[in-house]
Amino acid sequence: MDDNLNILIDLLKKHAKAESVQALVQWDQETYMPEGAGEFKSEQLAWLSALVHEMHTGEPFKKVLEKVVNLYTGDVLNSNADKEEKRLLYLIWKDYHYASVLPRSFVEDFSFLTSQSQQVWAKARANNDFKLFLPYLEKIVDMCKKQADYYGYKTTPYDALMEQYEPGVTTQQVESLFSELKSGLLELLDKIKNSNEKLDDHLLKESFDTAHQWAFGLEVIEKMGFDMTKGRQDRSAHPFTTGFHPTDVRITTRVYENDMKSAFFSTVHEAGHALYEQGLPVEHFGTPFGQAASYGIHESQSRLWENMIAKSLPFWHYFYPRLKEYFPILQKTSVEAFYKMINMVKPSLIRIDADEVTYSLHIMLRFEIEKMLINEELNVSELPDLWNAKMKEYFDLTPPDDKMGVMQDVHWSMGSIGYFPSYALGNLYAAQFLKKAVADIPGFWETIQMGEFAIFLQWLREKIHVQGRRYNPLDLVSSVTGQKLSPKPFLQYLNTKYHEIYKL
Ligand code: CO
Repeated sequence: MDDNLNILIDLLKKHAKAESVQALVQWDQETYMPEGAGEFKSEQLAWLSALVHEMHTGEPFKKVLEKVVNLYTGDVLNSNADKEEKRLLYLIWKDYHYASVLPRSFVEDFSFLTSQSQQVWAKARANNDFKLFLPYLEKIVDMCKKQADYYGYKTTPYDALMEQYEPGVTTQQVESLFSELKSGLLELLDKIKNSNEKLDDHLLKESFDTAHQWAFGLEVIEKMGFDMTKGRQDRSAHPFTTGFHPTDVRITTRVYENDMKSAFFSTVHEAGHALYEQGLPVEHFGTPFGQAASYGIHESQSRLWENMIAKSLPFWHYFYPRLKEYFPILQKTSVEAFYKMINMVKPSLIRIDADEVTYSLHIMLRFEIEKMLINEELNVSELPDLWNAKMKEYFDLTPPDDKMGVMQDVHWSMGSIGYFPSYALGNLYAAQFLKKAVADIPGFWETIQMGEFAIFLQWLREKIHVQGRRYNPLDLVSSVTGQKLSPKPFLQYLNTKYHEIYKL
C-alpha cells in the first residue's frame, strides 16, 4: 500500500477518535446530563465539532489527500492501485468533498438555524401553531436547496440531499420502487380492512411492571447476540443507537407501564442497529471500510430484527413462556393470540406508531412532499393542506390538527430533508436479505424457534456487517442476494404473513 495512504488512514483514525468523543458528549446530553448543564454542553459540542471538522478538512489532511487523488474529480492518481484501494480512496475523497465543499459561514448559519428551529418546532408542535414554525421551515428549505447546489447533482437537487443518506440511490429509482410498493401495500391494506377477522390489542395496554419490561428486553437482546461487555442500554426521551467503536455501542429506550409493545420493540429495533455497529470490522475503525453502508442499510438491520424476527410466531414460541413468567397477566392468552395482537394492522395518523403494512406509506407521503419542496418550488405555507390531502388519499384519515399532521416529525426542523426514503428502503433491503438468509440457512425458522440466533447473526456479520462501505447500498443488495433491489420480496413477505393473520 501507498505510504501516503497509510498516513491518510492514520489521520482518519485520529479524526474518528475525536468524533467518537463528540458522540459520547451527545450521548451524555440525551441520557445523564443534569438539567442545569445544557448551556455548557452546547459549548463543549460546538468546540468539539469545530475541532473534528478541522481535523477532517484542514491543511494537513488536504496536503496528504491531494498526493493520492485529484481533489476536484476524486480520480485516484496511482494507476497501479487495485480495486479495493481505489474504492477506499474514492470514499475518503467523497467524505472530504462533502465535509469541505460547504463554506464555513454556511455551516455555521445552518447549524444555528437548525438548533433554533428544533426548539421552535417543539414549541409550535406543543401549541399546535404551524405559523410559528413556518418562517423557520422556509429558511431551512432554502438552505437545503443551497446545500444541494454546493454538493452538486446530475438530475435534481433532491438527489444531492438523498446522497448524504443513501449513496448512489437516485430520486428516480426511489420513485419507481415506491410506485410498485404503493400499489401492493394499498391492495393488501384494502383486503385487511374488509377482512372479517377483527383484532384487539387492549390487553397490551394493561399494567406491565416497567422493571420487568426492562429486564425482559435485555434478556432477549443478549440472546440475539448483543454483547453486553461491549455495549449497554440506558433511558432517553427518544430511543437511539450510537456506536463509538465496535467495542462500545450504546442503545437507549423509554418504558411505558401501559404499553407493553413500545419499550420491547424499540429495544429490539435499537439492538438490530447495535449488532451492526458491534459487527463492523474493528481493524478498519476510522476508515470508510469500518463504517455502515448507508442509513437505509442500517435501518434494514433494525427492522429485520424488530419486525421480521421479533414479530414472528417462531420467535414467540421460544420467548412467550418466559414473557408469561414476567407478566402473569398474559397467563390465559395463547401464543397465537399474542402473536396477532402484536401484528395488528390499523392505519393511523402517526408514523412512529405505524404497523408494518402502513409504515412505508407514511414515508412515501413525506417523500412526495419533500420532492415538491426541493425540486418544484412548493410554497411551505401550503404544507398543512397538502399533508392532509395526502393523508386522506393514502389512509382515508384527516388529522384533527397539525400536531398530529404535518408537525409530527423532528426531521425537517433538523434540516434532514432527504432522509425519510431510507426508512422505507430499509424495509425493502431487510425483506430481500431475509429471503436470501432463509434460502441459505437450512431450517432457518426452526433455529429461531429454538432461540438459536447465532447462525443468523453470523450470516449477517459475514454478508453485511464486515463489508463496511465496500459497496453502495444497491450494490450490496445485489452482491448479497444475487438480485437487484425490488419491492417484491417485501410485498411477498407481508402478503404471506397477513393473509394468514387476517384469514384473507
Ligand atoms: Co432505526
